[in-house]
Amino acid sequence: MAHKDILELINIDSGYGDIEVLKEITFSAREGQIVSVLGANGAGKSTLMKTVFGFIQPTRGKILFEGKDITQLKAIQLLKIGISFLPEGRSNLPAMTVQENLEMGAYIRRDTLKIKADIEGLYKRFPILKEKRNIMAGNLSGGQQQILEIAMALMLKPKLILIDEPTLGLAPILVTEVFNIIQEINRSGTTIVLVEQNAKRALEISDYSFVMELGKIRMHGPAQELSQKADVIAAYLGER
Ligand SMILES: Nc1ncnc2c1ncn2[C@@H]1O[C@H](COP(=O)(O)OP(=O)(O)OP(=O)(O)O)[C@@H](O)[C@H]1O
Ligand SMILES: [Mg+2]
Repeated sequence: MAHKDILELINIDSGYGDIEVLKEITFSAREGQIVSVLGANGAGKSTLMKTVFGFIQPTRGKILFEGKDITQLKAIQLLKIGISFLPEGRSNLPAMTVQENLEMGAYIRRDTLKIKADIEGLYKRFPILKEKRNIMAGNLSGGQQQILEIAMALMLKPKLILIDEPTLGLAPILVTEVFNIIQEINRSGTTIVLVEQNAKRALEISDYSFVMELGKIRMHGPAQELSQKADVIAAYLGER
């Protein structure tokens, strides 16, 4: 079977009111892959994610999901067709328990019985969540909250997950654990678009990568090829 792009951005301009951030972004993610977006602070990585997920309307260009135009769709409609988004920073409900957060993760679903079974499935996959099921999410460690948020996103059985900086502020051992989980989700068939500042680690787990600077894509290619150009990437990331 020929590889196909599950997500495509064609000539996207986007920003905040008069502030134009993304300029002529052309980007694609192949079905089944881990595709990373690298770039320094302020490069436009989060703006790219927010534009795909319908939080910001692009001023130009087109976004396709499985070949269909989704440029005008809102977040709730995107969730229903199989796209989940984990934004930068914490996105759980800190005053609710782990279990309640997982139930919230399924909030657009109607199949209540199946939801229970899926939560049990997630407890098998992430035993730490089972252990903490009755603890308030806000009382978990940063790494545990990140795992919970990934599990919440999985409750909708997405075909594509957009993850913005999942390892920010985590201790190195937890970074490894979160990356392992992302790889495991990908192996089970979900396409991942991963925004990361840690280029080296991201390239290790990615199939393909894009490097952004000042709202533009400066470089892209198979992650293995980009790993050979670490110095060029470091320059774009502002590391000397
Ligand atoms: N809500 C907003 N209103 C106006 N400008 C914004 C807003 N959010 C971001 N920007 C601007 O858009 C540009 C890109 O920001 P963005 O958050 O997309 O970068 P980023 O690559 O995600 O950076 P970081 O690595 O720090 O998360 C920056 O110049 C930023 O100041
Ligand atoms: Mg960001």
